[in-house]
Amino acid sequence: MEHSSAGLIIRQREPRNLESPFDRLDGYLTPTELFYIRSHFPTPALDRAAYRLHIDGAVRQPFVLSYGELRRLPAETRVATLECAGNSRVFLVPQVQGAQWELGAAGNAEWTGVPLRTLLRRAGLADDACEIVLEGADRGTPKEEPRPADPMAYAWSVPRAKALQPEVLIAYQMNGRELTPDHGFPVRAIVPGHYGMASVKWLTRIAAVRQPFHGYWQTTDYGYWESLDGNPVRRALGEMQLKSEIARPRVYETLPADRVYTVFGAAWAGESDVTAVSVSADGGRTWAEAQLLDPARRYAWRRWKFDWRTPRTPGRYTLLSRARDASGAGQPDKHDCKYGTYVINHCLPIEVFVEDFARRPVNGGAKPSE
Ligand code: MTE
Repeated sequence: MEHSSAGLIIRQREPRNLESPFDRLDGYLTPTELFYIRSHFPTPALDRAAYRLHIDGAVRQPFVLSYGELRRLPAETRVATLECAGNSRVFLVPQVQGAQWELGAAGNAEWTGVPLRTLLRRAGLADDACEIVLEGADRGTPKEEPRPADPMAYAWSVPRAKALQPEVLIAYQMNGRELTPDHGFPVRAIVPGHYGMASVKWLTRIAAVRQPFHGYWQTTDYGYWESLDGNPVRRALGEMQLKSEIARPRVYETLPADRVYTVFGAAWAGESDVTAVSVSADGGRTWAEAQLLDPARRYAWRRWKFDWRTPRTPGRYTLLSRARDASGAGQPDKHDCKYGTYVINHCLPIEVFVEDFARRPVNGGAKPSE
């Protein structure tokens, strides 16, 4: 596996698709340099002085903001987990097309910016506007067919009700610092509780629309098939689904037999709170409660841990974690195929080897320190 100098796993160099090394999960906030990067086109070079944000479409008073004007508006800081809808794709069997993300196309950061609704109110959002289209400055032509003939921007629409939630930010800071170029400098949207594709980077236009927006990204790419009276209809992905991930141990890690090993991970939900996480060390036959380490905060993940006494018998074991949300629902056992190669939120199997180090031949390697 190839890594960037900061330690991100390189899935694709250009456009940049870099994965967070999830086994290094430590603090509540993912450090910016270890936060995954998912871009469809090359990172545009935007200049702070020349930057303009256009707010128009189905509004009474369209307006334009400079970077300085945006910075002078009342701002809020919120923690939100972003997860790419294709995160954990490598767990799909048989293997499918697309970036083979493992566990690290997700991260938790603190975002600072102006609530989107402040801007929509100032513009006088039309009563019949149903969605807000967020448009980025990056442009290009996707590789996969079918695709439009001409280069296009990255654009995504958010339903009106979601766009008016106070948590949706037009952000210019990540973890207390100016956004980095790859994370959307100078300004991006943060749509907490929705998969990452809604959090449009390099945001230059906010346009209210009166008809649902059926753009490329939310139909051809990040869409799924919903059944409407027995007929499949194409819908845009939206809310993140309940999920937990095991950061440690790593897949195929070797652990010593008959020792306490602390299984560690994180769990998150969309428009709900994670209320419990349980862990199975026998492929799902029995489960035990994990301990949640962070308070419940809507839209932010909760880290958790579980002290596992590893079996005495050496062999291959399958660890699973399962989160529950405030409604009592748990993660599914299997991937829901209506989502195709996205929304991989079933209980993900982490296979490990338990070895009796004490019985290893002398030349079989050093004993691990405890
Ligand atoms: N915004 C623009 N303008 N262009 C993009 O390619 N990728 C989206 C979203 N916003 C994208 C974008 C996707 S698919 C994800 S998962 C998140 O940005 C990733 O944000 P990050 O790179 O800051 O982690």
